[in-house]
Amino acid sequence: MDMTTPIGIWLANELDHVSLVMSDHLKNEHKEVTAICGELAAYRGKMLRPTVLLLSWRSVSSCETTPHEVRVAAGVVELIHLATLVHDDILDEADLRRGAQTINSLLGNEAAVMLGDYLLSSAFLLCSTVKNPELNLLLGEVTNTLCAGELVQLSRRNDVDLDLESYFQIIHDKTASLIAASCEMGAMLGKGSGCEIKALKEFGSSVGMAFQIKDDILDLLGEREIIGKPAGRDLDKGKLTLPIITMLVDNPSLKEEVQKIMGNADRDALSALLHSTGAISSAFDMVSKMVNAAICGVEEVIENESSKQLCALAKQLKSSV
Ligand code: FPP
Ligand code: MG
Repeated sequence: MDMTTPIGIWLANELDHVSLVMSDHLKNEHKEVTAICGELAAYRGKMLRPTVLLLSWRSVSSCETTPHEVRVAAGVVELIHLATLVHDDILDEADLRRGAQTINSLLGNEAAVMLGDYLLSSAFLLCSTVKNPELNLLLGEVTNTLCAGELVQLSRRNDVDLDLESYFQIIHDKTASLIAASCEMGAMLGKGSGCEIKALKEFGSSVGMAFQIKDDILDLLGEREIIGKPAGRDLDKGKLTLPIITMLVDNPSLKEEVQKIMGNADRDALSALLHSTGAISSAFDMVSKMVNAAICGVEEVIENESSKQLCALAKQLKSSV
């Protein structure tokens, strides 16, 4: 996104406010807690969820200035996201995220479990400060959904019979639901119409699915130094992702071979098989299809500078890296 345009400058300024809301809220009377939270600096990324919340709000609101409640909501969704990353890295036994050491590898699993819990409870506490029950309800629902998504994923490890519908449900729940809720919260706080709120929520859902499919492809094909996190972790943890599932749907006779490959975590053999059966290019096609659906859905209902920025963000997912 071009941060020199008026909307880019607006967004950068808003994200600074959101970061301040978060860092103020994470200050604790115990210096040990503040110090552990300080380790989270390396986890800060593009702030995708606050970004889509702010742009969704702006795309429907007639307000000139951003209300505090909107900045708080943006901080809340980022805190939830950080909590999920800290816990996810424990589950995945990951030592690297965004090119830096993970909390679990730096401080151990016990501190990482507690930091994730602290971030989660901080998010709910921060949300409660704005006294908007609708926002609290949405937050409770989405957090519940993403935990359930992770539980289902855990229970389907190494299951070569995992069907497409179940995979889509898992990635919707564990990843897309929070991006969808971020858009929905923004639209709701901007007092968008029912139609606008629905369109933005669906936009977030499709973008979130595309985002996770791409993340899954990169886990299969990417290199640690480039993606800034361990590669092949899905394979190590027995997570079946879109390319493998589509390949098995099209070629059920490969199930035994895939089971063997997964047992040996043989990434090179799996990658060769996925390329030769066209499963990788079909997964990239799915990313494009979802991004296009996301853009069309929003364009039908809203057309202004903010919605265009949302669509431009979605289009970035179509690049091959
Ligand atoms: C990323 O998966 C994982 C998520 C988006 C959700 C993780 C959720 C939990 C661990 C549940 C805990 C929830 C709370 C609220 C504390 P990935 O491993 O495919 O992504 P990665 O490649 O970025 O690691
Ligand atoms: Mg992970």
